[in-house]
Amino acid sequence: MKEQLQKIYDAASADLTKATSIADIEELKLKYLSRKGELNSIKKNLKDLSDEDKRVVGAFANEIANKLEAEVKAKYDEFYKKELDEKLKKEKIDVTLTGKYVPQGHVHPITSTIDEIVDIFHTLGFSVAPDKNSPEVETENYHFDKLNFPKDHPARDMQDTFYTTIAPHVILRGQTSGAQVRVMEDMKPPIKIIAPGRVYRNENINSRKNNFFHQIEGLYIDKNVTFADLKGVLNEFLRLYFGASRPTRFRSSFFPFTEPSVEIDVQCIMCQGKGCKTCSGTGWLEILGAGMVDVNVLKASNIDPEVYSGFAFGMGVERLSMLKYAIDDIRLFFNNDERFLEQF
Ligand code: PHE
Repeated sequence: MKEQLQKIYDAASADLTKATSIADIEELKLKYLSRKGELNSIKKNLKDLSDEDKRVVGAFANEIANKLEAEVKAKYDEFYKKELDEKLKKEKIDVTLTGKYVPQGHVHPITSTIDEIVDIFHTLGFSVAPDKNSPEVETENYHFDKLNFPKDHPARDMQDTFYTTIAPHVILRGQTSGAQVRVMEDMKPPIKIIAPGRVYRNENINSRKNNFFHQIEGLYIDKNVTFADLKGVLNEFLRLYFGASRPTRFRSSFFPFTEPSVEIDVQCIMCQGKGCKTCSGTGWLEILGAGMVDVNVLKASNIDPEVYSGFAFGMGVERLSMLKYAIDDIRLFFNNDERFLEQF
């Protein structure tokens, strides 16, 4: 049996010399040193020996096992260190290498302009009306009738308004002013809201006109709201959005749903007021309509005009963005040319 043990040891030693990796060593351990390994299976036969032989052979078996285990461990440690070194060398990263360029998406200029305007009106005490009060698909009733448009008003014409096939009175809104009525029907004064959204108009498309664009409607209803409040709020908005030095002007105007009515022009940024293609030579661009809410509109929205008054306004988001960033063509916002979008 001693001879058998010696043979196993010799074979194991030979294998150990041939081993080149941790995997080889694991295999070797399994073959010779594990519970079912060769050394153990020999040890099982010890019981058949005399007591004296048991002692001698047993001691020899243990000696061989210990020796082998020590040798295996030494080899294992050596390989472990070597493999770790190789791994560290291979996986080393050069922190001075330039990074990979990952293009990043960002907010569309229309969205950021709306966000900026909404922020300004927040500071002036306005909050955004619920979406349900500002639908893009509107009825003629909210879009025209309740806003005091006469039955034969030209804006109702198919030339200006997109009618739908849903029903004869269902249209794509051409202004956000329907939100005024819906809000007044749903809320009690004091009301101080804005309603941003997309509008659609049957226009011939050119550098200043697209057949859809964005507006922000505003409405302030309370006791004793006057035209001075309208001027104060809108002038403050202009100052916060354009800065104090940009020339602006109020011009009297007409809308069926406000009386009196005004429009606000801002000096053209492209020509500094000298007159150019963008402002069709006038030096000014109109950015919003506004006025004191007409008594008929208050009545149609169940608000008592004897107690309450207010003002409304509607501004064009694209125009405001063009006038801030010197964008000379409204179509740039919508044809998704990355060279344009990337600049914002
Ligand atoms: N709805 C008008 C437009 O689209 C703007 C406006 C809104 C005017 C509110 C007065 C009051 O031109």
